[in-house]
Order: sequence, then C-alpha cells, then structure tokens
Amino acid sequence: MSGSTTISGALWKDMKSEALPAEEQAKLFVGEDKWHTYGTGDIRSLMMADGPNGLRIETGEAVGFRPAVPAVAYPTLSALGCTFDKELMYRFGQVLAQECIRDGVDILLGPGINHKRSPLCGRNFEYFSEDPVLSSELAIGYVKGLQDCGVAACVKHFAGNSRETGRLVQDSIIDERTLFELYLYQFERAVKQARPWSIMAAYNLLNGEYCCENETLLREILRRQWGYDGTVISDWGAVSDPLKAAQNGLNVEMPGPDHGTSDVLLEGLQNGQLAETVFRENTETLRRFAERCSHPKKNEKDIDHFAFAQELAERSAVLLRNEGSLPLKKEKTIAVIGAFAETPRYQGAGSSKVNCLSVDSLREALNEDGITYIYAKGFQPDSDESDPVLIREAMDAAQKCDQVVLMLGLPDGKEAEGFDRETMALPENQNHLVEHLLQVNPDLTVVLQCGSPVLLPWADKVQAILLMYLSGCRGGHALKRLLFGEAVPSGKLAETFPLADEDVPCAPYYTDDLLQAQYREGIFSGYRYYSTFEKPVRYVFGHGLSYTSFRYDDLQADADESGLHVHVTLTNTGMYAARETVQIYTSLPTSRIVRPVIELKGFTPVFLEPGETRTVSIDIPQEDLMYYDTGVHQRQLEEGNYTVYAASSSDDLRLSAYIHLDGTETPYSVLKKEIAETEEAFTELLGYPLPVERKAH
Ligand code: BGC
Repeated sequence: MSGSTTISGALWKDMKSEALPAEEQAKLFVGEDKWHTYGTGDIRSLMMADGPNGLRIETGEAVGFRPAVPAVAYPTLSALGCTFDKELMYRFGQVLAQECIRDGVDILLGPGINHKRSPLCGRNFEYFSEDPVLSSELAIGYVKGLQDCGVAACVKHFAGNSRETGRLVQDSIIDERTLFELYLYQFERAVKQARPWSIMAAYNLLNGEYCCENETLLREILRRQWGYDGTVISDWGAVSDPLKAAQNGLNVEMPGPDHGTSDVLLEGLQNGQLAETVFRENTETLRRFAERCSHPKKNEKDIDHFAFAQELAERSAVLLRNEGSLPLKKEKTIAVIGAFAETPRYQGAGSSKVNCLSVDSLREALNEDGITYIYAKGFQPDSDESDPVLIREAMDAAQKCDQVVLMLGLPDGKEAEGFDRETMALPENQNHLVEHLLQVNPDLTVVLQCGSPVLLPWADKVQAILLMYLSGCRGGHALKRLLFGEAVPSGKLAETFPLADEDVPCAPYYTDDLLQAQYREGIFSGYRYYSTFEKPVRYVFGHGLSYTSFRYDDLQADADESGLHVHVTLTNTGMYAARETVQIYTSLPTSRIVRPVIELKGFTPVFLEPGETRTVSIDIPQEDLMYYDTGVHQRQLEEGNYTVYAASSSDDLRLSAYIHLDGTETPYSVLKKEIAETEEAFTELLGYPLPVERKAH
C-alpha cells in the first residue's frame, strides 16, 4: 500500500480493480459456496452465518437446512421488539459479535426489519414491529453493536417482503407514499444512521421487478437517495436474471458456488450489455466490504451469554392482563399445566433456527428453586384434538391447587419460515382446555409462547396473561422470575393483538393470489388503522402492564429546526423497582391530508425505584414528523398545531401538549382516498395501471 502515497486514493483504487482480471471480477458477483463470498487478489473471502437471534453455522453436506454448530438461542426479534430499548439491542449486537468472532464469522445475516403487515406472516417472529420508527431504532442499536466490534450486519429482507407463502414469486404492489412511510422507512433510517455494511435483497418482486433486479429500489432509492455504499447480497436463490441483477445494483448472488453466473456477466461485459463501470463498482464494493470486515475485532468483555439470554427474555415479556393473580404467592399451592412448561417453544423455525447448546424450561427453573407444584401436560402440542385423559388430569391438578399457571402457544408446525398461518387462532385443544380449567379454578394465569399474535377468546375470563413470545434458551428461568415477582414485566407490545382474523386491515387483500399482493390498505396498517377507524382490538400497540404503577407529570414540548424536544416527568408510584417505556405520539387534528390519528415518534425505557422520580427528554428528528408527499416525491412537514402525547400505550395517552410547527413548502398532494377498497381505487392511488400479472418462472 505504500505506493498509494504518490497517487490519489481514487486512482489507486481504480488501478487495483483494473489489476484484477475481468474473469476474477466476474466471480466476485457470486458466492464461493453457500456461506462465503468469493475471495481473489487482495479481496478476502468473507464468511456468513444466519441470525438474527443467535448463530446458525451450518456443518455437513446435506441439502436444505443442515446441522449447525451449537450456539445460544436468544429471544426472537418479535420478543425483543417489546423492549423498546435501543441500548439493549446495542449490547445484543455486541454479544452476537463475540460469538461471530469466536467462530470466524464476518457477516451475521440479520436483523430482519420488515414491516408486519399481517400477523399471519409466517416469519413475523423474525421481525421487530408494525411501526417503522420502532423497528429502525432497535435495528440501529443491533447493527451498531455488531459493527462496532468489527462484524458486519446484513439487514434484511429489502423490501416489501410481508408474506412467506408465495415469497419467491409474489409481486408486492405498494403505492409510493405507503412504501416510503411504512415499508422502506425502517430501512432508510437504519441505512442512514447505522450504515450497515450489507443488506439482503428479498425474494419477492416489488412493483413489477424482482427486488434483486430492481433498479428503482437498489440504484435510485438505496444508493442514490440514501447514499448507501455497502454490499447488496441476494436472498438465497433469489436471483432470476443475473445480468439484470448486476446491472441494477446487486453485488453478490447467494448461495454459491457459481453455476454459470460469472460467465453470463463476462459475456455481457464483452458484448457491451454490461457497462465496465458495473464491474469496477462491484469490485470496489467488495473490496470495501472485505476491508471493513478486516478491522481489528473488538471483543474484550467477558459476558455470560446464557445470563444475557435470560435478561433479554425478562425484558421482552409483556404482561397483557393482571387482575391481581400475579405475582404468584409462594405460600399458596400451584398447578403448572401445559406441555410447553416441559418442552418450551423458544425459537422460530427455518433459517434462523439455532442448534441450541442447552434449553431450560419452567419446570426446570421451579425445580431448581425447590418450588413445589403439581404438573399436568394438558394437551398434545402438535395436535388440534383434545385429549380427554389429559384434560381430566389437568382439571384434577387445577382443582387441587390455589393458583394455576397454564402454558399455551403455537407449535413449530403452525408458524415457520416459508408459509403463512391461515388463522391467528390457537389450536382448538388449547382453547378447550382453558374453558375446562375455568370450570374448576378461576385463578388462572395464562402464559403464551408464540412468535406473533394469537386470538384470545377467553381473555376476559382468566386472571392474568403473560406473553413471552419465543423467549430463547433461558426463557424458563426468566418466566419463573417474572411469575414470582423477582423480575417485573416491562415489555410493551410492538404490534397490535387483534380480536379476530377479519379485523386486520389487509385481511381482504391478503389472499390466495400468489403472484400479486395488492397493499390496498395503504398507510392504514397496524395501529395506524385501528386507532384511526376506532376499531376495537384485544390489546393495543404499546400495551404492557407492570407490577408497579407510574405517574406522568409536566409534559413539555418545544421545537427548533432539528425537530421536536419533549420532556416529561415520571414517578414510580408502586412497590416494585421497574421499567416503564414512555411513548411519544403525535397527532395533527387539522391536517389537510389523510393521515393516521396518532403515530409513534419517540420512546424511552426508564428504570425507577419505588418512589423515584425522573424527568426524561426525548428528541424527535424533524424528518420523523413528516409525511411523504407524492407530488414532490419526498418528505414534507405539514404546517399546523400538533398534539404531542406522552403515553403508556397507544390508547393510554397520559398527557398532551400542543405545538405549532411551521412546516416546509408543501403541495399536500397525497392520497385522497383512505383505503382503496376496489381495484379502480387502488389504481388511482398507485397513479399508474396495475402491473399485468405474469406467470411464475
Ligand atoms: C432466508 C434468509 C436467510 C438465508 C440463508 C433464506 O431462505 O430468507 O433470511 O438468511 O435463507 O439461510
């Protein structure tokens, strides 16, 4: 490198690219094998492993998902979304980086930050939230945590990948405003603020073009508008036209080895179909990537990874309901019912599945503490059929005890990568069991293990509901501590729990049509829909109870050109030291455009001892206050009197303040219709004819 002192850096880099024969540069466009980028000359091959909630390093030669090196399974991202804690995600990134460094992994394939359009998406357990600001804040922490230690993140799946069924062929048709406000905004914030070294382009098409070949997505939006200089990697097997993919901004087709792609590209270069700059830029991108991954790794802290997995599980749990049964009373007798108390559902199925070193259970945690209880299995977890013998045993156990803890959830077979659920309902045998147990013991606490929302028809009849999501390999110990008040639940829902399948705004458009997904509900997705249209739900976005209580005082909001600055004073008025997540929502009742009645703009978790008071400040960047204007194709701030809410959930708005924002010059040229119920209305919203449905290739 010493020669570079006499010539400019850019020229030196060009010379280095040219020094690599075109054949070698062509090979850089494809993985060396299933888990490595191609290495040549001074560009080193990089190793990847699946995440996002633990490492999956495949071993062996089998086809499909192979056995993996044993590792720690942390709670999945749908659980971690409930922490609302960016700093915690930064620590999580650092902990994952430590494992990557130990095992020689350069790139961790995560986090997944797709917008949760429907709770039925089979892979929602791998995603954080139905709110883009929340998803991106957590992703920023995670990515920075990893990369500050020298390990690359690979943010996925870019973009509009909201279904699993048909994901390889489906065209997500999303109007411009909805795209920029809900489906791209979390990627944009993560790209601009955390600068991930790699991004994974999704399987599906977006507005007529495969994501891996989508010039608008990869070149215009990602690179030109957002200034991205990292590597775009294809999802595994997502490239259909390698020439078009390379031309339009994809850097690496995965998995390798190369089955002809580099020859196609070389030929394209020779016959002029592919510009030389495409080769040069790609080589530079791969060189930059390898250099970034080759900085000295930072790995100094000695962390107990299992203890951290437990901490994450405790922080993720959401207390959905509590009529006073929780915490459990140690002096009273306890029945523990449900197969998941013995064999927990603790992680998702598919490419994120960790070969976990060891997994605990609630029973194991109770036994270790010498807590006596009666156990009954209650139901067969992999079946919908009720088993009369198991029900009888469970009723006997419940009858004999003062308090009942019933563990319910979704088995792997109901929720996995590769297909969507057909309903949010729990298996029928589990709902039956609840009804039977209520006949013999009203003091029923339900614990839920599932990756995404389920229907809870009996919710108002039970005493308490504690949502653990998929809480990783130390979820059993975390659960025991939460049940007995040794840890206090502080999670807040990062997605709405609806009352019925048909209540979900995209339900009519989440159809069996595998080739085209029309996002007709537009910006009215998740709580943006339920709150605006006053649609009742089971549990609102941001909901989560505690064993203590909090008082909100003195909300103040002021603004300058950088954005909004909110201050609020919080007091722990109860008996337990605990965390509350202060949530800031804004509203513009006099808006001249169609917009949700409230939107989350900021949040912060605050830990307080009983009686402690603290004033917290939350800064909201101006860009987050804007809507996307399709007339000028950019974000605009609408002038007006905004209401700022300090809230404990999206429908527990404790305090409000008012502030006038001057706004940017804006034509207010956005959608006139609220939800495009018909194809004509949707076409009008899109502003161009619907792409003709094509045949799957
Ligand atoms: C998944 C990716 C994953 C990759 C490698 C794909 O099927 O969609 O998220 O990283 O496989 O296992």
